[in-house]
Amino acid sequence: MDLSIIVLAAGAGKRMNSKRPKVLHLLGGVPLLVRVARVARALHPQRLCILHSPHNGASLQAALTAIPDVCWAEQAHPQGTAHAVQCALSALGGQASGGILVLFGDVPLISQETLERVLVSAQAQPQGLHFVSVRVADPCGFGRVLRNERGEVIRIVEERDASPAEKQIGEINTGILWASVSFLERYLPQVQNKNAQHEFYLTDLFQLAHQADLPIVAIPAKNPLEVLGVNDRLQLAQLERAYQRQLAEHWLLAGIHMADPARVDFRGTVVFEGEASIDINVIFEGEVRIGEGVSIGPHCVIKNSILGAGVRLEAFSHCEGAQVGPACVVGPYARLRPGTVLGQSVCVGNFVEIKKTTMGEHAKANHLTYLGDAQIGAFVNIGAGTITCNYDGAHKHTTHIEAGAFIGSNTALVAPVQVGAGATIGAGTTLTKNAPAGQLTLTRVPQKTVAHWRRPEKQDSEE
Ligand code: UD1
Ligand code: CA
Repeated sequence: MDLSIIVLAAGAGKRMNSKRPKVLHLLGGVPLLVRVARVARALHPQRLCILHSPHNGASLQAALTAIPDVCWAEQAHPQGTAHAVQCALSALGGQASGGILVLFGDVPLISQETLERVLVSAQAQPQGLHFVSVRVADPCGFGRVLRNERGEVIRIVEERDASPAEKQIGEINTGILWASVSFLERYLPQVQNKNAQHEFYLTDLFQLAHQADLPIVAIPAKNPLEVLGVNDRLQLAQLERAYQRQLAEHWLLAGIHMADPARVDFRGTVVFEGEASIDINVIFEGEVRIGEGVSIGPHCVIKNSILGAGVRLEAFSHCEGAQVGPACVVGPYARLRPGTVLGQSVCVGNFVEIKKTTMGEHAKANHLTYLGDAQIGAFVNIGAGTITCNYDGAHKHTTHIEAGAFIGSNTALVAPVQVGAGATIGAGTTLTKNAPAGQLTLTRVPQKTVAHWRRPEKQDSEE
């Protein structure tokens, strides 16, 4: 059957008290609307239409550039969810036939599996309404599902319009709904705005369907998290914690040790290739891959990086856009920036910053060093306080250090410059010319001792 998906995201989101559109707030590091659009795309609809308001249109479009083929529709004056669907249908300009699946931009964790069950149910009874409902311990804020004595859904009542008795109902409407185009064309115009908010409620369709004796099928969501909506920052924070808890539980059961599952955050997609151990306050961001046997110390941030098998990342280290080879030891207090590629068994110690630099196997930079735009060979030893002077104020230049070289402490390597294989650079050198392989090169003011020199001393007459 032809399928169009409409994502509603034109609401003002007033309850967020935020300048940022509500649906662009982040959950697990990803904007709410991007999550919904990704799931929508995975269902391969013929059309994906996102409804925005005049205020949030430009920001929504900018945030969703990675989602292809979106039909953007504008709701000039948001007047409720039914009005929103009507606007989207007009924007689709009669192209839609078959069915419409309505998703909410502020219900971010809806799963593909649940939506597929809605579509299967719709296929079987295309004349009816199919929606996702769930029983929750705290239904406050949601539309409640009213059923008759036969258990049939007869109506949805919004929180603000609900009587005290109706507020006791634990089964809630998630907002996610499937209806045929012909049903919507017939019944949407009948929705009125006689309610507490004077809005046109999509949920009024339930009563209309019931009166017309059309089937209303509630598809239960398996996981209550997938249908929780975000209306204010409190709900966003609660959903974030619940989502993080769920991810942590998943990885714990898969063999990942966490000192405290409440103090690990997954903001993006992390893949663990085997057992690993994570200490407290660790944040994973973007695309991260963690090899077998990795141990991550406390207070580390790992963003868009790959840690090879057996890596030990010590406390307070940051990795961003880094590829860390197997058995490397990094930190404490190390900072690996984008373009860092460490071979096997490299050691990077405290207060070392590395950017756009490759280090060959067993190379070491154990203390207080900046390595930028450098190619460093295997078994190179970089002494404390070594700096690659890679930037001349206008351009970046490269430093090459060949295998087995030894760079003495406090060396400044003024790029572009090259150190040959096995060379030794004396401590304190400012290297401006290439250093030949296998030899000692140093720039150093000769040391002298001044004979008979005395420190100035205070005279008795001085105060
Ligand atoms: C809605 C449902 C409620 C359900 C809850 C689930 C209605 C009337 N109520 O309530 O039964 O339990 O979701 O989360 O549908 N929007 C527009 N244009 C508008 C109004 C809203 O695009 O004119 C969008 C919003 O951006 C949001 C979504 O529709 O993404 C839901 O709107 P919201 O005002 O948050 O509805 P709820 O009060 O949460
Ligand atoms: Ca909502």
